[in-house]
Amino acid sequence: MNKKVSNPQIDCVISYFEKTFGDSKGVRVFSAPGRVNLIGEHIDYCGGFVFPAALTLGTYIAIRPNGTKDTVRMAATTVDGIRSFSLSNIDDAKALDWGSYQAGVVKELLLLGIPVGGFDAVFHSTIPFGAGLSSSASIEVSTGLAVSTVFGAPLTGKELALAGQRAENKFCGVNCGIMDQFASAMGLEKHAILLDCASVTHKYVPLDLGDNVLVLANTCKKHSLGASKYNERRKEVSVGLEEMNRIAKSRGRAEKPNLCAFGKDELRQYAPEIKDDVIRKRVMHVVSENERVKEAVELLQGGKLLEFGALLRDANQSIRYLYEATGEELDAIFDATLDFDGCIGSRMTGGGFGGCTVNIVKASAVENFKKHVAERYTGATGNIPEFYVCEIGNGALETQI
Ligand code: GLA
Repeated sequence: MNKKVSNPQIDCVISYFEKTFGDSKGVRVFSAPGRVNLIGEHIDYCGGFVFPAALTLGTYIAIRPNGTKDTVRMAATTVDGIRSFSLSNIDDAKALDWGSYQAGVVKELLLLGIPVGGFDAVFHSTIPFGAGLSSSASIEVSTGLAVSTVFGAPLTGKELALAGQRAENKFCGVNCGIMDQFASAMGLEKHAILLDCASVTHKYVPLDLGDNVLVLANTCKKHSLGASKYNERRKEVSVGLEEMNRIAKSRGRAEKPNLCAFGKDELRQYAPEIKDDVIRKRVMHVVSENERVKEAVELLQGGKLLEFGALLRDANQSIRYLYEATGEELDAIFDATLDFDGCIGSRMTGGGFGGCTVNIVKASAVENFKKHVAERYTGATGNIPEFYVCEIGNGALETQI
């Protein structure tokens, strides 16, 4: 959390701070990354295992207390002007055109009893917005770390993740799980995180992909979690849990606290008794995806990369056909990889309904991969994709200036 690194993005956020607030005396800079999820999609809020990793793309925040008790002033390198809100009327910040993720986190820090005072801050992000790479979680986690630290009560990584999630659920109205904020707070260079979302405990797994690299393929169709079907899926899986428990009870078996507490055998026995087709499909995705995560981690640790990649493809088809959280663009960009030899695995990553796929591609074939996928994807949808070879970085930290 307190590892010091230097990075050219820091100059950018500091010079913007100077331009906006006059000078940068006493300013501190913090950052938190976006994430890619390798496997385990839409199961963090069902108590399952997920397997994300932090990116080297992230949000940078330059911050300084401004000596007032109540006034927060914020600017961003991509938005004109200053937005302000007062700590005593923090809910008014919901009406701002941007800044609600930050205000939501500050509210959570106040609720935790942290003596937050007025501050000035500038935000700068290198994460493409709306690409499903957790730009919002990185704003929440960087804000949480920066504000709690400068006001003398730094939160731990897990506390930051939970505060960010609460902010997004309560202040921003997106009923997200814990995965994104946890990966942003707790990421470790060259490692993925096996996170048990029921207990919020984790272990790091080295991400050794041999002569392959991870390539993100961006459909450039923005997803909007709040407006999209994310909250609808959450409602469907809570009905799914009620159904599974109803069936378990009718057989004299114990009820379970979440869907991922059911295993493959129970799924096989109970699924035919779920009355509603849509609910049955959602439950089938959740339970099978949780099993795939455990299998995928074992395969990766055993160096079985081809099998690992194949499981990623299975996971994609589950979220596509059972969970129905992809859409025309994600389907087209996934399909475009199927006949490319140097790609051993691909799947959508993140909330879905737009955003990116993550692909395991032979390092020597990356340029051909981009060309191959772009041609087919643009042919199918008319959209121009973007590609990023991604490196796995560390979680939130204070950077050296
Ligand atoms: C979004 C949410 C996460 C998670 C994923 C889907 O990224 O913020 O909590 O549910 O979607 O796996």
